[in-house]
Amino acid sequence: MSVISAEKFSLWKKKQISKGGDNNSLNLLIDSLAGLSNKELNLLKIKSEENLNLKLNLDILEFFWDKHLSTSIPIQYLSGISFWRDLKLEVSNKVLIPRPETELIIEIIAGILKNKEETINFVDLGTGSGAIGIALALANPNWNGIATDIDKNAIDIASRNFGNHSDQSNLKFYNGNWWDPLANYKGEIDLAVANPPYIPQDTYEVLPMEVKNFEPKNALLGGKEGLDHINEIVQKAPIYLKHKGWLLIENHFDQGDRVKQLFLENRFTSVKVLKDFSGIGRFTIGRYK
Ligand SMILES: C[S@@+](CC[C@H](N)C(=O)[O-])C[C@H]1O[C@@H](n2cnc3c(N)ncnc32)[C@H](O)[C@@H]1O
Repeated sequence: MSVISAEKFSLWKKKQISKGGDNNSLNLLIDSLAGLSNKELNLLKIKSEENLNLKLNLDILEFFWDKHLSTSIPIQYLSGISFWRDLKLEVSNKVLIPRPETELIIEIIAGILKNKEETINFVDLGTGSGAIGIALALANPNWNGIATDIDKNAIDIASRNFGNHSDQSNLKFYNGNWWDPLANYKGEIDLAVANPPYIPQDTYEVLPMEVKNFEPKNALLGGKEGLDHINEIVQKAPIYLKHKGWLLIENHFDQGDRVKQLFLENRFTSVKVLKDFSGIGRFTIGRYK
């Protein structure tokens, strides 16, 4: 713990920003490592005479900030922490940093499955840090969840994240290819959610350096057209979903129409492409017959 006056801290912050980078990233570093939230940072403007308690001293924070500026390593990988919805998740470069647009998935599901008392089986395919599966399991203690991922490191991180947020056991973690770990759940799943790798090859090649150089390729690249994994998930979904079971898939900004078509070809009904906060057709949703 380090105690410092708000005035001294504000000067330190100005110095850091003068070196480069953006204010949001610096605030994220301060929140993740020093434990000072955006709200507290904003209050400093009117409480400049107060003292602050930081979890780390300014020299260490400055070390991480300089490292971010010189290497472009995302703040979340430097701090090992990512904030997503109301969750504070452990992350490493073995998992995708969960994105803000994905947060909407939880609201979409709350809108279609309103009866919180009902017990249902859900799966989060390609769970990464566990973000989607954990949020659903916490919001719906009656639901039984399964989270899968091809990467064993991701499964370890996701299950630690769940343990850090809950002492319940309504989310299980399995390592394997998409639906494969669900051999015992054929025809038993009420809801399947996936945010699979969907970036087309050409787009992947020109991704910003801080994404391409640091985030796992197998969390991003979806083959030539970006649809390899989405195809596999949709085609196999009928084996695992219950009659009228839901499938929700996050897709790339321009894939909505093709993913909708894929749902229809695989006998899904009530198929819709839903928009994210930027007005992009980001989520395709449908029911199996
Ligand atoms: C775009 S990331 C999404 C991670 C997390 N669900 C989120 O929204 O932040 C895709 C995830 O799918 C996993 N994945 C890639 N190929 C897979 C496969 N064949 N089977 C299962 N998971 C896979 C990756 O390891 C990665 O964690």
